[in-house]
Amino acid sequence: MSRVPVNSIGLPETIWFDDEQLCVLDQTELPHSVWPFVINSVDDAFEAIARMHVRGAPAIGITAAYGMVVDRPSLIGDAGSVAEVLMRLEDRHRRLVVARPTAVNLRWALDRMRDAAQVWAEENDSGTPRQIYEHLVQTAKTIHTEDRRMCGAIGQHGKSLIDSGLGVLTHCNAGSLATSEHGTATAPMYAAHGDGVAFSAFVDETRPRLQGAKLTAWELSTAGIDTTLLCDNMAASLMAAGRVQLILVGTDRVTTDGSVANKIGTLPLAIVAKHYGIPLYVAFATSTLDRDLDRGDEIPIEHRGGNEVVRIGEHLIAPDDVRVYSPAFDVTPGDLVTGYITQTGVYRAEEFERLLREAE
Ligand code: MRU
Repeated sequence: MSRVPVNSIGLPETIWFDDEQLCVLDQTELPHSVWPFVINSVDDAFEAIARMHVRGAPAIGITAAYGMVVDRPSLIGDAGSVAEVLMRLEDRHRRLVVARPTAVNLRWALDRMRDAAQVWAEENDSGTPRQIYEHLVQTAKTIHTEDRRMCGAIGQHGKSLIDSGLGVLTHCNAGSLATSEHGTATAPMYAAHGDGVAFSAFVDETRPRLQGAKLTAWELSTAGIDTTLLCDNMAASLMAAGRVQLILVGTDRVTTDGSVANKIGTLPLAIVAKHYGIPLYVAFATSTLDRDLDRGDEIPIEHRGGNEVVRIGEHLIAPDDVRVYSPAFDVTPGDLVTGYITQTGVYRAEEFERLLREAE
């Protein structure tokens, strides 16, 4: 399939599943080429996530959910019983859950698929492999649709924070490309822009993978939002110059103490923002909430290979044998967060307990 469908905000779809064919927009090729990465097997789904053809916490979860049902013949083709399908699903879960460690949406989506299968099997004594397969395809589609709804609601709640003339800084890509549509951090921006609010978006380039430059700057400017790109080390200067009135970021995992793991470089933004009294809001769908972890320092942090640091694209920019430190995420403690935006509303940091109660 060479054509990439377009979503409701005029951007390419991030993930689509048609006639049992799973595709993700290949984000390693953006912004030069808008091209799908086709997923025909569980190994392809693993590769798509691990090698970041698809990335961003919600998009990783949605891809993994479809990864549980991709390649129908190997899931149910010669399966003699529903019990056998359940065993194969367990294998798929085991394989996919380790594709990336930090975004909790991966485990959340895989667990939900596995639970849906188990409940269906218990309730349908004489069910067939084909029937459980169809139920699971429907469950993956529901996860996808729910994410669309949650991101849309984040936009509607969060747009109240954006007035005309504001400078809004974001980091990495918590945009349409990281979700089903609208994004999380970008959802209030798309909603405000849709209402005709004239604000300026500032985008950190986000070394080492450059998600800000390659993805966020591309999607915001494609959508017609006034967009300025800066190197990560320029953000403090921009804040000192009084050009930023709001910071909006996404997250890969939120713990019950209000800590948030997000792309490396979020923590220094939060520290500088506090110094200058600039509000920092974290936007997330509650599929990113990890109720099993009470503290931010319990979040597993992915460390990536040195190649991404010593090279920009193919170009070597440092001694190729130098030792490299490259955590992909940092953890911002709740006391540096001004507030949170979810599909259920906007919460000041001191209202985090209420957020936990109201989260679906
Ligand atoms: O390594 P990535 O590109 O998957 O990191 C993505 C981020 O850090 C996003 O901000 C986060 O996943 C939120 S996406 C709505």
